[in-house]
Amino acid sequence: MGQGTPGGMNRQGFPGDRKPDGSDKKDKKFEPAAAPARVGRKQRKQKGSEAAARLPTVTPLTKCKLRLLKLERIKDYLLMEEEFVANQERLKPQEEKAEEDRSKVDDLRGSPMSVGNLEELIDENHAIVSSSVGPEYYVGILSFVDKDQLEPGCAILMHNKVLSVVGLLQDEVDPMVSVMKVEKAPLESYADIGGLDSQIQEIKEAVELPLTHPELYEDIGIKPPKGVILYGEPGTGKTLLAKAVANSTSATFLRVVGSELIQKYLGDGPKLVRELFRVADDLSPSIVFIDEIDAVGTKRYDAHSGGEREIQRTMLELLNQLDGFDSRGDVKVILATNRIESLDPALLRPGRIDRKIEFPLPDIKTRRRIFQIHTSRMTLADDVNLEEFVMTKDEFSGADIKAICTEAGLLALRERRMKVTHADFKKAKEKVMFKKKEGVPEGLYM
Ligand SMILES: Nc1ncnc2c1ncn2[C@@H]1O[C@H](COP(=O)(O)OP(=O)(O)OP(=O)(O)O)[C@@H](O)[C@H]1O
Ligand SMILES: [Mg+2]
Repeated sequence: MGQGTPGGMNRQGFPGDRKPDGSDKKDKKFEPAAAPARVGRKQRKQKGSEAAARLPTVTPLTKCKLRLLKLERIKDYLLMEEEFVANQERLKPQEEKAEEDRSKVDDLRGSPMSVGNLEELIDENHAIVSSSVGPEYYVGILSFVDKDQLEPGCAILMHNKVLSVVGLLQDEVDPMVSVMKVEKAPLESYADIGGLDSQIQEIKEAVELPLTHPELYEDIGIKPPKGVILYGEPGTGKTLLAKAVANSTSATFLRVVGSELIQKYLGDGPKLVRELFRVADDLSPSIVFIDEIDAVGTKRYDAHSGGEREIQRTMLELLNQLDGFDSRGDVKVILATNRIESLDPALLRPGRIDRKIEFPLPDIKTRRRIFQIHTSRMTLADDVNLEEFVMTKDEFSGADIKAICTEAGLLALRERRMKVTHADFKKAKEKVMFKKKEGVPEGLYM
């Protein structure tokens, strides 16, 4: 071995030295003599590498020190870089791990998740929950759910099979209620209402003024009314007035139709009413407008079916909520119906909705005004004499007048005329009156 390696080196490194070796070939017995030569070469080689490794002594010394400092700084920098790269490699798998964990959590949660209600917290890891369809369950809470935020009554996510609590729904507001919020003001304004001056004034006093100037009521020493009820024949402008209020007020306007409060499951109707008023309170000052209140507010009598009883419970919750307001006057209620006589007296007793605003059928002056409003954007021929319709003895509601104007416009359109003539109006009136009488037994219109 000792021979082989130097020989190889010899061949590579010193090809020129081979000649002496070749000349020694003849006397092979002089191996010992050859060996020292190799050793010598080896020594020389070692010396050479040593010499290369050894730094030359450089003078002057200070310059070397400067160089040393410089190199040390480079070394430090390289060390830092090495550490950074090592960290990078160490942290990368962690991210992947987190991702893995997350997908595991998702697996645990299961999908789809059902939505339920937290009824009661038993201990750290267990709770009683209920969903809208079924009974209540005693279930576990998974460890990754933030227990600090869990409180009885909040909406939770449950595993679809084992029903354990797997998450928390942050947004507690019922989507049904958030839909009711009127984001975009309706286009109707007070200017679009013909007549009804006293009604407009009353609703302003009862609803708008307490919200904008509560101090006036304090000065006089009375509590402002909690709300108003608008009642009257169909088509006399009740919904229209409420829209105008929504248009003019800067308060939050929540609108509901009575029938929306009737829900599929037991207890959901009253819950919706509660939620509605809670949201109204949160967003106060606000106005709650419940149209067609007769859907829930009819007189209480011996209810036979479960559905009827549920509707009554919804109304009782409504009464409860109306009583529940403190007198800050931040939430006002507007109800509308065309059958006030069928409403429960408790709803209308003083202290709840005690302001009743009647919407009568328009008188002659109002009719003229309504005709003006609805024909203002129409192109009328010169022969049109609206006075004839204004002075007629037939009973018109505001909606009828609007229908007549629309109908007349359609008739003109049918004959491709750009102007609406008097004959159009006459025909339209007959049509509207005929339609109106059609559904009602003869004799009612004697
Ligand atoms: N005083 C009025 N001035 C102008 N337009 C009116 C007036 N009254 C009614 N109208 C017209 O009639 C339409 C229907 O009126 P509205 O929807 O307010 O009736 P309502 O009183 O709510 O009826 P219902 O009791 O059936 O709900 C309105 O869109 C409006 O164009
Ligand atoms: Mg209406």
